[in-house]
Amino acid sequence: MKMLITGGAGFIGCNFVHHMVENYDHEIVVFDKLTYAANPEYLKDVKDKIEFIKGDITNVEDVKKALKDCDMVVNFAAETHVDRSIEEPGVFVKTDVIGTCNLLEYIRKYDIERYLQISTDEVYGSIENGSFTEENCIDPSSPYSASKAGADVLVKAYYKTYQAPVLITRSSNNFGPYQYPEKLIPLFITNAMQDKPLPVYGDGQNIRDWIYAPDNCRGIYTALMKGKLGEVYNIGGGNEKNNLEITHMILDILKKPESLIKFVDDRLGHDRRYSLDSTKLNKLGWKPKWKFEDALRETVQWYQENPSLFL
Ligand SMILES: NC(=O)c1ccc[n+]([C@@H]2O[C@H](COP(=O)([O-])OP(=O)(O)OC[C@H]3O[C@@H](n4cnc5c(N)ncnc54)[C@H](O)[C@@H]3O)[C@@H](O)[C@H]2O)c1
Repeated sequence: MKMLITGGAGFIGCNFVHHMVENYDHEIVVFDKLTYAANPEYLKDVKDKIEFIKGDITNVEDVKKALKDCDMVVNFAAETHVDRSIEEPGVFVKTDVIGTCNLLEYIRKYDIERYLQISTDEVYGSIENGSFTEENCIDPSSPYSASKAGADVLVKAYYKTYQAPVLITRSSNNFGPYQYPEKLIPLFITNAMQDKPLPVYGDGQNIRDWIYAPDNCRGIYTALMKGKLGEVYNIGGGNEKNNLEITHMILDILKKPESLIKFVDDRLGHDRRYSLDSTKLNKLGWKPKWKFEDALRETVQWYQENPSLFL
């Protein structure tokens, strides 16, 4: 079984590549543009077990060549940082929407068995109480989540129009090894390691449901192999925490002072709370394995052991 993993040199994609190499016999091809968020070093320890193609999902010729002869495709490739999307929305529309459309075109034209689109809980928007199921309407708030939502509706349209063999997973906020330090957890770990301030948005009370990336990777593989075509599967960690709680936990683990906390102006359009109901994927046999506190300690330790990749 030949599996193409787009965006496999970025954070979650590279965790997924490691998960595949360590646990399964699929032939793995990583396809990645190598933007600032990627690093070929992340794949150093598996480089003899995979094929790597440098390519761009917004380039039709690159996509056409890479998808030929593949059996399955998992698309992690995207622009992913909300703050960057507020500065430059067009880049997000190009990669996340047009890039996905290029992939879908060759999924339907070639004999590909399954295509999994990696999406996010952010497409649902903010929720005050309760949790989103896959039946809820999407209502994105940022240019990032709007671009991801655009990709999701295209994936669904390709299923309805062409019966393309597609599925979608929507996970909550990931953390773990190999994440470029611009998002909350890796930024705060690497800043605290260097005694730099930790910039907390607004009142620090925004809630996210955190999932350890290796748990998400197991969920993605479950959906890919056991999910029903045309369906969406939520993958939530079940660890709702506000940003200030996370900040204190990181400072505690690193034994750094609270004086490093610096409150800054809130992000524009900042969603207050995300929460996912993952019952549908639980029914396929998946649940998270990791306890949040243990996974956070592992993550901190990984950044301490790999400073040359980030500092
Ligand atoms: N990080 C999270 O918390 C989170 C949560 C839910 C869903 N997601 C989704 O998971 C996927 C992966 O997220 P991540 O955090 O690993 O992102 P990331 O930014 O760390 O990695 C993105 C990868 O895509 C590659 N890429 C970007 N543009 C490309 C292009 N045009 N062609 C080919 N490759 C390209 C980059 O080089 C990088 O390797 C994304 O689709 C994201 O929307 C992320």
